[in-house]
Amino acid sequence: MAYQKVKGTLDYFDLDSKKYRFIESKVSSIVKGYGFSEMITPIFENTEVFVRSVGEASDIVSKEMYTFLDKGERSLTLRPEGTAAIVRCFVENKLYATPGIKKYYYFGPMFRYERPQKGRYRQFNQFGVEVYGDASPYLDCDVIYSAYKILSSLKIKGIKLKINTIGDFESRKNYTDALRNYFKDKLEFLCDDCKNRFAKNPMRILDCKVDGESDIIKNAPKIKDYLTDEAKEYFNNTLKALDELKVPYICDDNLVRGLDYYTDTVFEFISDFDGLAICAGGRYADLIKSFDGPDIPGIGFAFGIERIKNIMEQEDLFPKLDNLTDVVIISLDDESKICALKLASILRENKITVEMDYKNNSLKPQFKLSDRINPKYIVIIGEAERESGIYTVKDVLNKKEDKVELNKIIDYVKGE
Ligand code: HAM
Repeated sequence: MAYQKVKGTLDYFDLDSKKYRFIESKVSSIVKGYGFSEMITPIFENTEVFVRSVGEASDIVSKEMYTFLDKGERSLTLRPEGTAAIVRCFVENKLYATPGIKKYYYFGPMFRYERPQKGRYRQFNQFGVEVYGDASPYLDCDVIYSAYKILSSLKIKGIKLKINTIGDFESRKNYTDALRNYFKDKLEFLCDDCKNRFAKNPMRILDCKVDGESDIIKNAPKIKDYLTDEAKEYFNNTLKALDELKVPYICDDNLVRGLDYYTDTVFEFISDFDGLAICAGGRYADLIKSFDGPDIPGIGFAFGIERIKNIMEQEDLFPKLDNLTDVVIISLDDESKICALKLASILRENKITVEMDYKNNSLKPQFKLSDRINPKYIVIIGEAERESGIYTVKDVLNKKEDKVELNKIIDYVKGE
């Protein structure tokens, strides 16, 4: 085959595209009910948008971005994630100007140059939400709860919520110093990327894909020992609120997330089925400020749609999506084909799906087409039907046949 899709990308067609749209409509109807409004941003941004937010030392920025110069020599990047672009849009359009909490959701393709495998793609789709306005453990709980409710409404089981805090500014500063102190005489045992991370942001060493499982990293200082009293209290109140709402979770000291913008609460929903995160997110106190916006904190999460789809397929959770075509029209001469086109148009206007044969006039190939499509009804139009205005309609499911006047076909097919 001469042309194949790019490695790590997916084609969606037939049942797969229906599954994709099913997930999309289900999750967006839930978040609309929570008062979120949709934000649609471009799929590429100035590269700086991601570098300054996700962080230079992160894998995403240092290794995975699709960055290119446009014809005006501007450095642009296909978005590797949604949060930074949503914040950019929020600040640029001064959406903070009116008071109150702002809640947005977004859908769309993200791009990361990762090693492709099941559940990890170079173009994948995220559904995410971002909430701006308050730093409160109750808001953290509410946002996590909405992710939990999305999973329950899709009936997905076998998911664990892992949660941690990476503290406020002071906690992270103390922790970063402790990590530098711990790693400074162990650098020779770390990969070159980690040596770089040591200088730029030692917390990123903890999510290194090469050294991540080594004892040096496992024995590194834990953030929980460097939290300020305020950060501890904030986290405990978030956990208490989750307890009250009966959301099960596991506290995981090692969870630091691979993006630099997080502060305080971070979380991931992990699938038992393949150990991958199906959803991840957290709070970010300073991101809006770092985009020259006001001092407003944010929190959000993003689901990987492909990962949701894989689990739903595994757990057999999709409803029947391959709908039957309602009607196939069989027409026995050229004049009847014109009649068939007119009838098809009227039926389609009434939301009845219709297929017809455009080429053959004899019955045999047209019944063959109909067998393949397997419609609920077959309408036959020949000279006699045209002249009398009464059509032969076969009810395929109930195995019966009736003569139906043209103006009654819609009611007949709709079962009214
Ligand atoms: P993230 O953990 O990088 O966070 O990605 C969120 C989710 O996107 C993951 O949990 C996973 O389900 C999916 N995902 C990530 N990479 C891939 C991939 N290569 N192939 C398939 N699925 C993938 C973020 O992107 C943050 N912006 C989340 C967030 C929103 N934090 C605050 N607000």
